[in-house]
Amino acid sequence: MALRSLYKCRVLLSKQLIEKKLLVTIPKQVQKYTTSTSPLLKKEEIHVTFIKPDGEKIKVKANIGDNLLDVVVNHDLDFDGYGACEGTLTCSTCHVILKQEDYDKVPDKPTEDEMDMLDLAFELTDTSRLGCQVVLTKEMDGIEVKVPATINDVRNSR
Ligand code: FES
Repeated sequence: MALRSLYKCRVLLSKQLIEKKLLVTIPKQVQKYTTSTSPLLKKEEIHVTFIKPDGEKIKVKANIGDNLLDVVVNHDLDFDGYGACEGTLTCSTCHVILKQEDYDKVPDKPTEDEMDMLDLAFELTDTSRLGCQVVLTKEMDGIEVKVPATINDVRNSR
């Protein structure tokens, strides 16, 4: 009985809201043409292979638009101390080494701030980058990312 009264109240309230144009209903004919937006929101993925200091390779799927730190976090990869400043460009623990051909595929070249931080990283090479600054693009599918054996958390040396 109470449920029926509640239902009637709800119907009455809906009618009043529709009359006052505060509530819009979608006709059934239109509803069948309505689609979910989830396919549009699905991110495109590429493959990234991380190479640990001991040579172990870890191949993962990664979303285009994510940076390499996001990929490490999203896959819960166990790289000791990696990404300590969470991408705020203040630690250099996300130092990675790319093959020259992969380095060239990264559209955004290092900024002055990234170069300054890279200068403080251990095992620096000409193709070093900070993972938190490397944003993935479709063209980077299949890149290999070497994680150095040693890291330098610059924040500890200040
Ligand atoms: S995570 Fe600290 S500089 Fe990239």
